[in-house]
Amino acid sequence: MKTLEWRRNELIILDQTKLPAEETYRRCTSWQDVKDAISVLAVRGAPAIGVAAAYGLVLGASELLRRKITDTAVFSAGLATVAAALDAARPTAVNLHWALTRMLKTAEKELAAGKSSAAITLALEREAVTLHAKDIEINRSISAYGAAAIIMQKGAKKLTVLTHCNAGALATADIGTALGVIRALHKRGLIERVYADETRPLLQGARLTVTELKADGIPVTLITDSTAGWIMKTGRVDAVIVGADRITANGDTANKIGTYSVSVLAKEHRIPFYVAAPVSTFDLSMARGEEIPIEERHHDEVRRLRDVQLALADTDVFNPAFDVTPHQNIEAIFTEKGTIEKPSETTVSAFFRT
Ligand code: MRU
Repeated sequence: MKTLEWRRNELIILDQTKLPAEETYRRCTSWQDVKDAISVLAVRGAPAIGVAAAYGLVLGASELLRRKITDTAVFSAGLATVAAALDAARPTAVNLHWALTRMLKTAEKELAAGKSSAAITLALEREAVTLHAKDIEINRSISAYGAAAIIMQKGAKKLTVLTHCNAGALATADIGTALGVIRALHKRGLIERVYADETRPLLQGARLTVTELKADGIPVTLITDSTAGWIMKTGRVDAVIVGADRITANGDTANKIGTYSVSVLAKEHRIPFYVAAPVSTFDLSMARGEEIPIEERHHDEVRRLRDVQLALADTDVFNPAFDVTPHQNIEAIFTEKGTIEKPSETTVSAFFRT
């Protein structure tokens, strides 16, 4: 199963809303198709939506070309409009913004060099393909750093690990971030079992993480989100590893709703809580987690479970898609450039200085 596949002028997206029951693909031939796929979570996970949005901008550029917009200033204004629309699809994961900013910079460079709209479109396509390919290397590197750091801290013994949401192959272009670290540990025979939180309301843990881990033969047990505290209390969890959607300059980390609760439980039970994320997930323009915009999603995601009405249709609901874990609850952040132990304003800024 490939999360994303670029075929000249179309992006094929595995529809994750249908997993694991059905393996179906959405064919995106316009930037609006890509925006819709990101909004409905057909493609989700911070790195994957960054790559999808980059291809979305290529489709936007192709559309401008088809409309015969050859005036490069008008063309570049059109690109900026498309980028802003794609960027707005999901406000918390900064990788989306990061990827689009990189793409617009590429366009600006070509524009400054006097290139035509067609040449700019080709350069954008090359950049999107590069971002996609780079994510594979990044996943491998995060996983290697994460596994090495955990072995240093815990010794080479088999571990039972808890994870929340899905920070795996389905959220990236390769083996994943948090699940990449778990896969690297499993390769060395160091995973006893993974507990996967089901991850209400959209069940990324139950539907995606369990499917991925089972496919790789990694022992996995599905738990309801409310079981996490009890299995920690009864001594069944050695470490927590999760992904991230945005990390601020002091190491505060936004991730799927429920992650904060897991971090508090881990702290209470003295279980190390690790975050695995690419450098592109850091937003150093924000000093602390309180500044992170938190996406709120449709109330029916909570009132209903697919076709089943769980609560009365007019029930008042609060449905934030993410929460923020304070850096004090995080033991270490694994990135492709190394590990930040005890993340804080000081350790994060030292990491980015070197
Ligand atoms: O709403 P989602 O499914 O996009 O949320 C995804 C997460 O919270 C992931 O943990 C995060 O994006 C990291 S993915 C490597």
